[in-house]
Amino acid sequence: MWGGRFGGATPADALDRLNRSLPVDHRLWPHDVRAAQAWAGALAVARVLTAAERDALVGGLDRVARRLAAGNPAAEPDEDIHTLVERLLYEEAGAVAGKLNTGRSRNDQVATDVRLWLRDALGSVDAEVTALGRALVARAADGVDLLLPGYTHGQRAQPVRWGYVLLAHAWPLVRDRARLATLLEDRLAECPLGSGAVAGSGIAVDRATLAQALGFARPSPNALDVTGDRDFVAESLFALALLATHVSRLAGELMTYASSEVGFVRLADAYCTGSSLLPQKRNPDVLELARAKAARTLGDLVTLLATLKGLPAGYSKDLQEDKPALFDAVDTVLVTLPAVRGAVETLTPIPERMRAALDPALYATDLADGLVGRGVPFREAHGLVGRLVQDAEALGCAVNAVPGAQAAAIHPALPDLLGSLGDWEASVERRATAGGSSREALAAQLAHLRAQLGD
Ligand code: ARG
Repeated sequence: MWGGRFGGATPADALDRLNRSLPVDHRLWPHDVRAAQAWAGALAVARVLTAAERDALVGGLDRVARRLAAGNPAAEPDEDIHTLVERLLYEEAGAVAGKLNTGRSRNDQVATDVRLWLRDALGSVDAEVTALGRALVARAADGVDLLLPGYTHGQRAQPVRWGYVLLAHAWPLVRDRARLATLLEDRLAECPLGSGAVAGSGIAVDRATLAQALGFARPSPNALDVTGDRDFVAESLFALALLATHVSRLAGELMTYASSEVGFVRLADAYCTGSSLLPQKRNPDVLELARAKAARTLGDLVTLLATLKGLPAGYSKDLQEDKPALFDAVDTVLVTLPAVRGAVETLTPIPERMRAALDPALYATDLADGLVGRGVPFREAHGLVGRLVQDAEALGCAVNAVPGAQAAAIHPALPDLLGSLGDWEASVERRATAGGSSREALAAQLAHLRAQLGD
């Protein structure tokens, strides 16, 4: 393709092995073909190609696509997907193939192909995020009546509903979807094609029409910028890394709940693995891998940012290294999400274990709030209930089993308040603010999430 300058000398094997990106970028072939067909159309409008030549190129590219779909593009000897498509086009269409790259460079080509690929890929990611979100919502709707401790600092804090805990992991996914949507609607809406190698195309193509033909909203505004810009890759990698981080947090929490010690949930057999030595084991590998995959996607983001740092405007070959990171992150997320969803869909909550963890000390805030109701300033009430908790600890009994006289010595209203605490359900319902764990607040969240995610 560029042999003329080199008098026919072939590149060294060592250069070829380093430079060859086809094993990575072969997956861009449908997008490379599609962009090439749109480019042929734009060249015909600009009267660089006759209608017959355009048809020969478009038809030839269709045949190239069929060959690539049937064969193994990665196994071909070519440098990258662009040179492979060009070579096959010569085989399919003959000499007219030599006219396709008029006014076009691999620099605007690859910037266009990757955007086209990402539009599809982020659409697939969005579908999987939505599916996981729906699974959490469905399980949350079944978990409204199950009560367990809500934790801060890994310590039991206040009683909450199991459905509420699950929804705390669904809301981040809604934000992840919003990030993906912004990328699709804005960053990925600009078409680089027609930018040439660095300074614009020598052919007066109508870039606005070309952009529309490929489903973009508009042409990119600066050729030097867009051929060297990988912001859209970096932002996609951030969105994927944060999504993977959210999934790892869900996985980490479920792992604790599924542990032998806690046992709030049991994972289905289909989502557990066994041990090669320990016959009794049921290991939560899905959750552990989801935790680790977040590290990997974060690594992909860091790889790309480190690659971009210090690069001048315009294309440098460094940019070829964007694709291993991007493809890895998308593949990783797409293999992780369905597995975590399956684990969520099939896990069994164990209500007795959740109940058993509801230590009466979790009534402490209710008691302090009760004292506030009797006119005690909250700080003082906090201290008084703290003393009651300490007394209970010293006696080795539950907070609500401290003898009445001893409680009354701390504050005369305490025996009465202890007597009217009600059950755990009553405790949860006392915190009825919007966004909380009460039945009504949870119902509002479920409705909101169903509207966002569908059901
Ligand atoms: N394989 C290259 C990449 O992914 C395509 C662009 C090459 N451009 C060039 N001038 N060598 O970045």
